[in-house]
Parts: sequence; structure tokens; C-alpha cells
Amino acid sequence: MILAFDTSCDDTSVSCFLDKTTYSNVISSQNEIHKKYGGIMPEVAARKHIENIAYLTKEAMLRMNASLKDIDDIAVTVGPGLLPSLLVGVSFAKGLAYANKVPISPVNHIEGHIFAPFIEYDICFPFVALVISGGHTHIFLVKSVGGYVLLGKTLDDAVGEAFDKVARLLDAGYPGGPVIDRLSKTGNPDRYNIPKGMESKNTLNFSFSGTKTFVKNLVNNASYLSISDKADIAASFQKAAVDILWKRAYEACLQTGIKRLAVSGGVSANSRLREEFAKNAEECGIELFMPKKELTTDNALMIAFAASLKHSPTFNYSSIEANPRLRIY
Ligand code: KG4
Ligand code: ZN
Repeated sequence: MILAFDTSCDDTSVSCFLDKTTYSNVISSQNEIHKKYGGIMPEVAARKHIENIAYLTKEAMLRMNASLKDIDDIAVTVGPGLLPSLLVGVSFAKGLAYANKVPISPVNHIEGHIFAPFIEYDICFPFVALVISGGHTHIFLVKSVGGYVLLGKTLDDAVGEAFDKVARLLDAGYPGGPVIDRLSKTGNPDRYNIPKGMESKNTLNFSFSGTKTFVKNLVNNASYLSISDKADIAASFQKAAVDILWKRAYEACLQTGIKRLAVSGGVSANSRLREEFAKNAEECGIELFMPKKELTTDNALMIAFAASLKHSPTFNYSSIEANPRLRIY
């Protein structure tokens, strides 16, 4: 049984994992706390992780009817993420591992996202992985566990960051992604022709700065925006963002000749994205893998699952360190 922690950003999550159908996964969201700042305050996030982590660990084990002597391995996100937040999970995991004489499996948060869809499906290598979150917009060719080739990435904002900024410009609430998703449901996605950046057909890189600046100018030049105007802007932006993401993901499948696409990270919770990707993938003969909605955003279950695939637990506790800029490519 693997006990796993993810404290990479603002949510504290702990999972107790036996196999793909037998696990617990508890997540404590900090959205209400960071709402008043309009973004994540790293020091505040870390303090909340400290308050929550022991309680959530007990809860995750209780739900599996497990005690510490049942734990064979402790998995923890070591990066990338916010350093103060990562340090809480890493220190807690190391302390628990040392005291209970169990090994630790360090996991890269992005690796967690890459494999999250396969908690539900069987893995078949190679596949193309599109990771879209608040910190990442990356396309990888995944040849094996540990075999990642970077095919493309954002040259400026991550797509989740762009959602968050557009929500802030519209004064629509926090967190931006779910707010834009909700607001878009009543909006007209065809009202504004929002630029999609980097029109070059062959590129697998992304740019969201032009898209975001267009929305900024739209908002700044308007003397008044009604709720319905805001909904139209949200829906038009969301449509542009989803179109950009699909175009690059499809291009990656064409360029690699691989017709298996895994999409994960917080932005893959987006309802338009899920509908459009499902429709487009079917039309293009691409096998699409997306996590269940609750496993798109940060969670410790995906960290436990990645650790179970990696088989690299170690008793060399001093080698385990938080690294906010950890890479997998
Ligand atoms: O994977 P995640 O929980 O954390 C990171 O690793 O960054 O992703 C968080 C991002 C945020 O930018 C949030 O606004 C976005 O995912 N997000 C969404 C939706 N739900 C969360 N973006 C668009 N539509 C959503 N429904
Ligand atoms: Zn994440």
C-alpha cells in the first residue's frame, strides 16, 4: 500500500493506494482562502498545508481501514511547484518514512498528471500527452514510464494562468478556470474573434499572450460591460483557448504518427474542452484518454499511481529534496 502526498500548490491532498480500484483520495481545497487575494499566496498556502496534512493523512488511512504498519511505500511530490508548499509535503513524508522505516518514492508532479488518465484506462505506449494546468502547457511524447520527449510548450503564459487572468479582467471571481467555464455557458462563443497566437501550422509551441491582451484591450476600451457581454467574452476566449489546444495536440499526433492522446491537468476539467476534444478525436480517429473530472486538478492519487508505475522507492532519505523547478525532460 502506498501513502501519497501532493502539496505542490494550493490544495493539500493525501491518498492511500492499493490498486487502481482500491484507494482513498482526500483533497482539501484552499480556494476560499486565496479568493480574497485573487491568486495563490505561497506563504499562506504553506501554512494551510501544515494545518491540514496530519488530519488528512488520518482521514485517507481511515477510509482504507489502514494503519501506518500497512504502508509499504510513501510517495511524495518533490516538484515542480511552489517551494514553501512543496517543503511541507516533502518534510512530512520524510519524517513519516524515517519514523516508520518505510522507503520514499519521489514523484514529479507532471508525471502524476501525465499518467492520471490511466488510473481508469490501460496504458499503451507510446502516446502523446498534453498537460494543461495553472503552471504548465506542455506536449510530450511518452515512450515509457520515465521516457519523455518534449514536443512543445507555452512560450509565455500557461493556459490555466490565461483563464485565471481573463477571469480577473472580467472581475468574475476565483478560481478563474471554473468561473470562465460557468460564465461561458450563457455566452455567445462566436461574438468575438479572439486571436489564437502562433498561427504557423507546424509549430507545437503555444502562446497565450496575444489572446489575453486582446481580452485586456476589449475590457479596457469598454465603458460598461453587462453580465451578458462578460459571458460573451468568456465564451469567446474559452473557444479560442480550446481551439489552440486541440490544434497543437492534433498536430503532435500527426507529426509523431501516434494516434493516442492523453490530456490532463486542471484545464482538462473544462466542459467545452472535454466536449470538443471528444468530438474531434472521434472524427480524426484518435484514441483519447482524459482523467475523471475530479482527477484533472491536483490530487495525491495520481502521485500514488505514478509511484506504483515507477518502482523506485529509496531508503536514502537525504536524497529526497523539494525542487520547485524540477523537470522531466
Ligand atoms: O492541475 P492544477 O490543479 O494545478 C496545477 O498544477 O497548476 O490546475 C489548476 C488550473 C488553474 O489555472 C485553474 O483555473 C484551471 O486549472 N482549471 C480550469 C478549470 N478547472 C480548473 N480551467 C478551465 N476550466 C475549468 N473547468
Ligand atoms: Zn497540477
